[in-house]
Amino acid sequence: MALLDIAGLTVSIDGAAVLGPLSFSMEPGTSLGLVGESGCGKSMTALSIMGLLPERARLAGSIRFDGTELAGLDDRAHARLRGRRMAMIFQEPMTALNPVRTIGDQIAEGLLLHGLGGGDVSGRVADIMARVGLPPARFPQALYPHQLSGGQRQRVMIAIALAMQPALLIADEPTTALDVTVQLDILGLIRDIARENAMALLLITHDLGVVAAMCERTMVMYAGRSVESGPTRAVLGSPAHPYTRGLLDALPTGDRIGRPLRVIPGSVPRAGDRVDACAFAPRCAIVGPVCRERTPGFTDLASGQTVACHFADGAGGTGGVGRTGGMNGRTG
Ligand SMILES: Nc1ncnc2c1ncn2[C@@H]1O[C@H](COP(=O)(O)OP(=O)(O)OP(=O)(O)O)[C@@H](O)[C@H]1O
Ligand SMILES: [Mg+2]
Repeated sequence: MALLDIAGLTVSIDGAAVLGPLSFSMEPGTSLGLVGESGCGKSMTALSIMGLLPERARLAGSIRFDGTELAGLDDRAHARLRGRRMAMIFQEPMTALNPVRTIGDQIAEGLLLHGLGGGDVSGRVADIMARVGLPPARFPQALYPHQLSGGQRQRVMIAIALAMQPALLIADEPTTALDVTVQLDILGLIRDIARENAMALLLITHDLGVVAAMCERTMVMYAGRSVESGPTRAVLGSPAHPYTRGLLDALPTGDRIGRPLRVIPGSVPRAGDRVDACAFAPRCAIVGPVCRERTPGFTDLASGQTVACHFADGAGGTGGVGRTGGMNGRTG
């Protein structure tokens, strides 16, 4: 059974659609990278799962996690799941850590919650801290978050997640606030911790190189929807959606040094602008009349990708139907 099964998820804020309809699922212990330009809905997806959407947001559709329906779940039940079964690593750890509690206390909390650590919680905290690169000799448990660097704070966040032993770990741009040299260490640590502990990893990033190194599967989002998903090797190796191809072309590579960066012309549509058409049509190199008339359905390719493009199969206008994210009649 899937650990996470999202079907027809939509989120609107003040009546403007900001996400969806979106459908995807994750098996236990697998990794999925969410990529796409700023504003495409990556964080909204994560916050929907975590039950941390802004107050004004309205959610519809279905998010089944671990056999529980999260859409419409009351805040306290969602908070319990957050503590025990799902954890999130944010871009800026300072906002997620409690500034007035020691790092040792914050890591111990997860252990106590689970009745782990036996009689020696402090010893177990020390083990976890060593595992995330904070050896006790240099990093006493009595330190406060402000006494650490950004990278060290992110290690504390990973330690907290590790202590929780969540089934699902969500990391939203976990290293964009860090120096480039620190970024690789932290990403490697997140990947290893997730693998060693059989946690499912949902990784959100702008960086296609990061998903290539970290994630078995990739989902490319555009304007609140998935435009292409599948095994990372297939999505990045033989991209089928013109938007994915555009993202890859925009990457600076060795042979393009000194040449102008290629960019995808135009910009992401604003929330609420979305109409019954392919949202990417205004920027698309292979746009045809049908793209302005109908939202493309999903086509499954032999290479394992699922693509929302009228031209995905080369025919045009015959893109498969049926997996466009039915609403399931639910509201949140
Ligand atoms: N608090 C908010 N109130 C209203 N609209 C919001 C709010 N937060 C995000 N949005 C809108 O929701 C849409 C999706 O935003 P989201 O934060 O999920 O994008 P993202 O893919 O995470 O982008 P980034 O890469 O910049 O983090 C955008 O159109 C954005 O303007
Ligand atoms: Mg975001």
